Amino acid sequence: MQVEAEPHLRAWVEYFRDLGIHDFYRRGEFVPSTRTEVDGLAQSRAQLASSVAAVQIDTLVAGSVEPYLQDATPTEQNPITPAEPQSMKLISFNDLAPFPAEPIAAVHRAAALFAIQKEIGDCTRCPLAYAGRHKIVFGDGSPTARLMFIGEGPGADEDAKGIPFVGKAGQLLNNMIGAMGLARTDVYIANIVKCRPPGNRVPEPEEANTCSQFLLRQIDVVRPEVIVALGSTAAMYLLGVKQSLSSLRGRWHLCRGAKLAVTYHPAFLLRDPRQKAEAWKDLQMVMGELGLTPPARK
Ligand code: URA
Repeated sequence: MQVEAEPHLRAWVEYFRDLGIHDFYRRGEFVPSTRTEVDGLAQSRAQLASSVAAVQIDTLVAGSVEPYLQDATPTEQNPITPAEPQSMKLISFNDLAPFPAEPIAAVHRAAALFAIQKEIGDCTRCPLAYAGRHKIVFGDGSPTARLMFIGEGPGADEDAKGIPFVGKAGQLLNNMIGAMGLARTDVYIANIVKCRPPGNRVPEPEEANTCSQFLLRQIDVVRPEVIVALGSTAAMYLLGVKQSLSSLRGRWHLCRGAKLAVTYHPAFLLRDPRQKAEAWKDLQMVMGELGLTPPARK
């Protein structure tokens, strides 16, 4: 029985974690709101009753998942109204968690980032884990960078290498960084999601929201003075607003103690190089803030 039960137990623990319950129940605020969550909970509860590992699982979930399962199981008396899906809410990074008062000492920042990466592990917290991902793309660059670039999500090249912005868009980003008088190793680069969305589609709110807990901590560890959001997806998730890129460009926003500028995504600039001059204006605004001057032309 014991031998047989263990794989079941593990499978269920992973199943609950994949549903996000592992994280939510600790915060005591899990309310199934998407059809997948509601169906998943109802299904798992039904299977719990007949599983050989039911006793162990009941012990495991007692006082944690179980109350939510009861709330979540759709009955005639307690129908679940799938109202506005929770995952559709946009929450700015400023509102996600309090900004730590004390910075992490510069000498400890690399280790702090490594600890976050370790915690992410071989992540299965959101559907992107099952969508053909090869490598998790954590971030790249200086743990003490004054400037941080945040893109949307890894593409095929990044997924293969596990490093952000290493494909064609990455080459252009490197050129943009060089034009600012910096090296890639001077800045920190990350993405809204760390796993490649299939077909390079835009990350879903559910995926971005799941990943944001880690990006948020990366930002808090690095404590950049300036963040550049590359493209509208990065801007939307960081700022928690759905607005056109043009309305967000050309002015400062605030994000976790940093000044945030919005500019075009390098992949967009590859498709429409005429906009490079506009992007350069954005970068000049950033350079002014950081006291940078472009390198002399040779
Ligand atoms: N596009 C992004 O948004 N991020 C990458 O890392 C690569 C391409």
